[in-house]
Amino acid sequence: MRIAVIAGDGIGKDVTVEAVKVLTAVANRFGRKLELERLPWSADYYLESGVTLPPDGYDTLRQFNAIFIGALGDPRVADNRHARDILLGTRVELDLYVNYRPIKLLDARLCPLKDRTPADVDFTVFRENTEGLYVSVGGRFKAGTEDEIAIQEEVNTWKGVHRIIRHAFEFATARGLRKVCMADKSNAMTSGHALWQRVFREVSAEFPGITATHYYIDALAMYMVLDPGQFEVIVTNNLFGDIITDLGATFQGGLGMAASGNIHPGKTSMFEPVHGSAPKFAGKNVANPIGAIASAALMLETLGWSAEAAAIDAAILKAVTERQVTQDIGGSLGTREAGDVIVGNILRTAQ
Ligand code: NAD
Ligand code: IPM
Ligand code: MN
Repeated sequence: MRIAVIAGDGIGKDVTVEAVKVLTAVANRFGRKLELERLPWSADYYLESGVTLPPDGYDTLRQFNAIFIGALGDPRVADNRHARDILLGTRVELDLYVNYRPIKLLDARLCPLKDRTPADVDFTVFRENTEGLYVSVGGRFKAGTEDEIAIQEEVNTWKGVHRIIRHAFEFATARGLRKVCMADKSNAMTSGHALWQRVFREVSAEFPGITATHYYIDALAMYMVLDPGQFEVIVTNNLFGDIITDLGATFQGGLGMAASGNIHPGKTSMFEPVHGSAPKFAGKNVANPIGAIASAALMLETLGWSAEAAAIDAAILKAVTERQVTQDIGGSLGTREAGDVIVGNILRTAQ
């Protein structure tokens, strides 16, 4: 198995070291061969070379079985150009239309919601990952003046909406789940989100065993806080999915805990923690590596290494339960030490 590793910027570098340690440990433990190839693409690389990623960059990525990313974002690159090319560009160029973001609470004490336990917080968000407001269609006219006009278009295609909604229903079916909730803003965005309404009706009719519900995105945010236990699978557009998965991350103990996959089923896919480069924590050995390590587990699960993925998840759960974790979730360890604990848990657990 060949994996491209892009540590990126800020704490992306810190947490990627730990994810790589864990991947190496689990491969050794299970007698698997895993080739990890580091790619230097980052703010540093861009500022030194003027290149965000090389012209054959996306083709290079397609040669791997999967891609692991730490985080991208650096205050020295004000327009976020390198992140746009490397992260958003890969999502589009490799057509990674499924943004898979599980929201799973591991320990009740980590949840900021009153009286919530792991049984109440266990659902998956599918975020459309290639269109919506992220398409960079639009522009600025008379920029910098009081007459400025700024236009940012939202693109919704039947194909794009259909494939993510269908994926959500197929995931629910495969996991034996009973509920899929779609969230849009069709009461205000009466063109684009009418398409979401139509496709949701069509696709849900094909899955009579699954209860299909709908909330407007504002109400969904409220219900996530009030009653997260009602959700099993949520499907929504690119921007709304971005926002509600940071909210969902707080239910898990914070951004340091949340994992994600950018997936095109059957093709080279990309895995990364939900969090960003948190520049103020960069290189200080404080970032929580669990979001990155759990993303590595999602990667192995997607590649068909289920036992290896389960071993990582069990090692994370043990570390969390025993409070052998970083300070953001109530422990006293540094990034490296928290990673070491998870590696130790993997190596000690019987196969
Ligand atoms: P961020 O996720 O980097 O950090 C927000 C806050 O969350 C941090 O200040 C910190 O308190 C907490 N946090 C995040 N990750 C943590 C971890 N592993 N351990 C402990 N605490 C953690 O979001 P931001 O500050 O909005 O963005 C910083 C930069 O990262 C920006 O350039 C942004 O564009 C970029 N970004 C990149 C990605 C990505 O690469 N996928 C995702 C989000 C943001
Ligand atoms: C994420 C991030 C990115 C996004 C940023 C860095 C462009 O917030 O992966 O959640 O908005 O998709
Ligand atoms: Mn985000």
